[in-house]
Amino acid sequence: MPMRFGTWRKLWLALAQAEKELGLPITDEAIEQMKAHLELDEQQMEVAAEEEKKRRHDVMAHVHTFGTVAPAAAGIIHLGATSCYVTDNADLIFLREGLGLLLPKLATVIARLTAFAEQYRALPTLGFTHFQPAQLTTVGKRATLWIQELLWDLRNIERARSDLGFRGVKGTTGTQGSFLALFNGDHTKVEALDARVTQLLGFPYAYPVTGQTYSRKIDADVLGPLASFGATVHKICTDIRLLANLKEIEEPFEKDQIGSSAMAYKTPTLNLTLTSQRNPMRCERACSLARHLMILQQNSLMTSSVQWLERTLDDSANRRVTLPEAFLTADILLTILQNISEGMVVYPKVIARRISQELPFMATENIIMAIVKHGGDRQECHEKIRVLSHQAGAVVKEEGGENDLIERVRSDPYFEPVWAELDTLLDPTTFVGRAPEQVDSFVQEWVRPALKPYEEGIKNAKQATLNV
Ligand SMILES: *[C@@H]1O[C@H](CO)[C@@H](O)[C@H](O)[C@H]1NC(C)=O
Ligand SMILES: *[C@@H]1O[C@H](CO)[C@@H](O)[C@H](O)[C@H]1NC(C)=O
Repeated sequence: MPMRFGTWRKLWLALAQAEKELGLPITDEAIEQMKAHLELDEQQMEVAAEEEKKRRHDVMAHVHTFGTVAPAAAGIIHLGATSCYVTDNADLIFLREGLGLLLPKLATVIARLTAFAEQYRALPTLGFTHFQPAQLTTVGKRATLWIQELLWDLRNIERARSDLGFRGVKGTTGTQGSFLALFNGDHTKVEALDARVTQLLGFPYAYPVTGQTYSRKIDADVLGPLASFGATVHKICTDIRLLANLKEIEEPFEKDQIGSSAMAYKTPTLNLTLTSQRNPMRCERACSLARHLMILQQNSLMTSSVQWLERTLDDSANRRVTLPEAFLTADILLTILQNISEGMVVYPKVIARRISQELPFMATENIIMAIVKHGGDRQECHEKIRVLSHQAGAVVKEEGGENDLIERVRSDPYFEPVWAELDTLLDPTTFVGRAPEQVDSFVQEWVRPALKPYEEGIKNAKQATLNV
């Protein structure tokens, strides 16, 4: 909380400084006393709480409290301003700060997943469409799909941050009427006041027009990128949950974590070789929170849509919950995602085995072409291989056996001309297209440049830990 009230004090100081510069009778002593008491100590917080009980108004309570430590300024603190001068401008400062805290964490997650993508750039794995076996891809290439979405989130959040303006000095209904009166009708000075305070707080510009508040559409525009990031996290963690079920990839696992209270084989302490099944708890938690983050933006859209005329106060209680929760949720999601990406476990043998179950079917086209090269007839070969595939499929589906299509090809003399080539024809690395090269160029051309501004932070980032 002192961050909020300390920021209010900075805003009151900036207002007084600018008003003084523009000719209002404010003493140096008033400015000096304000400057000396920008931080609130415990005792100041108590005075403010006591005042708030009496006045039932947080801003007025803090104006009074500030005056007790800056008595020379007591009569001019908040001069000409409305509550939203401090509340709204401070909120914009917090939004900017908050986005600024998320960005380097997001960059670190991207860096970790990129290391993973590079490590497994060429490891073939079965790709899925409809969650049914499709063509092969690589483990690293699949991770680039996740990374690309995170890069868009990085861009969206950077954009939202640099788009942010300041509410500035606008008065009760946004007309700057009180300030025009203070400066005896001098419009130039009122404009200069707005610009100077905006500059003192480090914003590139102030919104040109406002009602009493800055438009609540801004909140929606800030929560939009966070909600979109929530969707990314949900997709990534769902992918990992699906892969965990296939035993191809797992999230990191605590040595003494209890996977399930009832199913002991999910608990690795018993015997690591028995731990064939582990619950993807971190990914489940991430999906759970990601949905919350996505839904929070609905609050800001609805609040924005129901702001009547120059403002209604039914934004207030909702924003006090929605805005902090969105940032906290995004923050913990980044921690979870970093923790997962720092310890993802890959099981190449399981991955290879699944490929071997599906690859023979995918290789039929290559086998047909090889036969034709040896002078065979395409139609005849197609029919032969269709029959063998059908038989192998029946072994898999009806008898629960292994795919034996290749053994059938090997024992059918019709295919003798290509027997020597079968191993080459079935080499998984020839089925991954440009996946490894795509990883390389994607990392080089897209990831590295995007992470450049965050290099230092990434280098110093500690491992992410969680309460599990
Ligand atoms: C765990 O399993 C391995 C492999 O089967 C075995 O060698 C080892 O003795 C087992 N350890 C315990 C504590 O049961
Ligand atoms: C993830 O968090 C857990 C719990 O704090 C921690 O023990 C672990 O070292 C972290 N990193 C990985 C890769 O698991």
